[in-house]
Amino acid sequence: MLKAKGLTRVYRLGGEEIRALDGVDFHVRSGEHVRIVGASGSGKSTLLNLLAGLDHPTAGSIETSAGSLTEMPPARIAEYRARWIGMVFQSFNLIPHQSALQNVALGMLFIGLPARERLRRAEETLTELGLADRLHHRPGDLSGGEQQRVALARALAKRPRLLLADEPTGNLDQENSARLAEWFARLSAAGLTIVVVTHDQQLAQRAVHRTLEMSYGRIVRETTHREVGPTAEGRC
Ligand SMILES: Nc1ncnc2c1ncn2[C@@H]1O[C@H](COP(=O)(O)OP(=O)(O)O)[C@@H](O)[C@H]1O
Ligand SMILES: [Mg+2]
Repeated sequence: MLKAKGLTRVYRLGGEEIRALDGVDFHVRSGEHVRIVGASGSGKSTLLNLLAGLDHPTAGSIETSAGSLTEMPPARIAEYRARWIGMVFQSFNLIPHQSALQNVALGMLFIGLPARERLRRAEETLTELGLADRLHHRPGDLSGGEQQRVALARALAKRPRLLLADEPTGNLDQENSARLAEWFARLSAAGLTIVVVTHDQQLAQRAVHRTLEMSYGRIVRETTHREVGPTAEGRC
């Protein structure tokens, strides 16, 4: 469960005010797969960053099962994000001089696991994502699709309650987008709670429960495709 009310984020740039988010009410249920669409600049990334606790709203509240994100002290927000939130970005955001295995293990640095367990989980997750023979490759020696799967492994190895993905196929070709879409569908079917910003029809058509459309900092349309099934694990 995650519930946001009246979320507002105003950026002040020079003398100008930009209302990137303008009073958004948002919720995601346990096991739900929500897709967010909307024109460039409509506030999608701003919303995702707020849900992840990477940014603080100008007004409004975010309730999580770990408490109110908007009232938590910064150290607890960092802990919440490290423990419960998996994030995937369009630009992969991998550390170039570290191997795939190290990149994934580093994603668990702040959740209090011993180094050996971090490496074990990193290897297990990369293997699940079909990268068993790429463990020691650096990002530069991997294809775009492989890099994005390493990024997904990094987000998943900590076993998050919520996966947030911001245009994850934005830098992938058709074939790799289809593969990533397949993974999102599988994860959703396994009960993971997912919020994904995407216009990719391959990602969109599979397994999505609800689509929200944003425009000028607001949610202007909501479409329910199907109900959340009994596979939901109640983790979010
Ligand atoms: N750090 C920032 N400073 C000033 N304006 C910003 C900043 N980040 C985003 N914006 C503005 O806020 C609006 C929403 O941006 P964003 O959430 O990135 O949109 P989207 O992800 O839908 O393309 C845009 O007008 C953008 O220019
Ligand atoms: Mg964006």
